[in-house]
Amino acid sequence: MFTDYAVIGTNVGGIMNGRVKTGISSLDKMLGGGFYPGSACMVKGAPGTGKTTLGLHFLARGIELGEAGLYVTFEEFSGSLYRDARSIGIDLKKYEEAEKLKMIFTTPEVFLSMVRKPGGEFDEAILKYGVKRVVIDAFNHIEIISEDPRRMRSLAYLMVNVLRRHQVTSLLLQEDRLFLGDVGGLEFGLPYIVETIIQLKYVELESRVRKALLIMKHRASKHSNEIVEYTITDRGYQIGRQYEADHVITGSAVPRPAVEGLASSLSDVGPSLDISIRLIEDTLTRMGQSFSEEHYDSKEDFFEAIEKGEAGISKLESSPIPRAEDTYATEQCPFRATVSELNERNPEAFIALTGRYKKKYPGRAIVHPFCVSHQSVRELILGKTYINGKPIHTETLVCRSQVLGSISYGTKALKSNRMAKKEAESLLDMNACLYKLLINKDQAKAKAKELTPPETRDIL
Ligand SMILES: Nc1ncnc2c1ncn2[C@@H]1O[C@H](COP(=O)(O)OP(=O)(O)OP(=O)(O)O)[C@@H](O)[C@H]1O
Ligand SMILES: [Mg+2]
Repeated sequence: MFTDYAVIGTNVGGIMNGRVKTGISSLDKMLGGGFYPGSACMVKGAPGTGKTTLGLHFLARGIELGEAGLYVTFEEFSGSLYRDARSIGIDLKKYEEAEKLKMIFTTPEVFLSMVRKPGGEFDEAILKYGVKRVVIDAFNHIEIISEDPRRMRSLAYLMVNVLRRHQVTSLLLQEDRLFLGDVGGLEFGLPYIVETIIQLKYVELESRVRKALLIMKHRASKHSNEIVEYTITDRGYQIGRQYEADHVITGSAVPRPAVEGLASSLSDVGPSLDISIRLIEDTLTRMGQSFSEEHYDSKEDFFEAIEKGEAGISKLESSPIPRAEDTYATEQCPFRATVSELNERNPEAFIALTGRYKKKYPGRAIVHPFCVSHQSVRELILGKTYINGKPIHTETLVCRSQVLGSISYGTKALKSNRMAKKEAESLLDMNACLYKLLINKDQAKAKAKELTPPETRDIL
């Protein structure tokens, strides 16, 4: 019955005992009731996906519930905003006249100085109108203030902190640079400081461009992980059904996050496991693509390139136990930072991700998804390395990594390669893996067959 906090809520230090309604009832359901009072929500989307429209719904609903709103826009043409609002039945002028809505049309620089000045125009507007909801359209316009990412990050934090201090619930609209893709953008570190992220996206399906909505993050709350279709009509947002298609959000044109940013992206999209997996896969593809084909005349030339740091792999080891033509290499996991960071940030998502990954790649996950991934990267790199016209083959033997506090070894392939665990351990650093290079696969296999197992075999 009374679920609207504006109806029955008690305001204790600005924290209401319910949720803040978005203005779109299906979205409220997806959010487990709505936003948390006083929280900041990022609404991301490409041009025309409906960010402004969502902001208008949010403010109009607040006003209906007796909560004043503040709309800050850096867009030049104010007239079109009033017109767009009218086209979905929202009369901004009427709200302004009734002093339920304050519109600020300004530049990012002026807005920043407003926000910085205690008791200035921003504080005054919030206090005078009793503002409870704020929309900033579009937050990323502040990027014109500086090109220095650190400064932008601190400005973004400053703005969000000011909003928090006023205990207003805010929608920070964020423009995606690409029409398709741009999922998981890490603008000014904003995704980490906001409580909620709603992603709007175009989807190309069956020769039509449609729209998709997904809640990427909703801190401390259950939320839907469905990707739903929505349309915008003269009544505003109409949320439809869950998409029955794959890669709706990630699509094929997803810009891939850098490996360094991967842990952050993954911990944010942790609950959306398919997206997390897709991010890992995309990162891999990109890593693989960044290597060009390399041709060496001889094995020695290749080894020399490794020493000079010019080859795709990092380190060669000579095994303590001489073994025919086998050459071993160890390599630091390119995901090592991701693994430890993810372990720390979001261990539950990490476990879930490992489970899902193992299902997707049965028999391949050695310790955790990143091992599988690393393996594929190596295959991509070395698959492009030719010695005397022949490609190199690799076989993973063992990897050593710290997962959820304990050190794990993937030892599956050791035995078949007649290598003792102790021997492997002596070669391996943390977050590294050991693999065998089959430079001349047929020859190496034939020689391996002839080998008598080393004495240390029993240690396994
Ligand atoms: N009354 C309406 N009837 C039908 N569609 C509408 C209506 N109002 C808006 N739309 C649709 O919503 C889209 C734009 O929505 P909106 O302005 O909220 O997007 P946006 O993400 O803020 O875009 P931008 O990045 O350009 O600011 C329009 O392109 C149109 O397709
Ligand atoms: Mg807009």
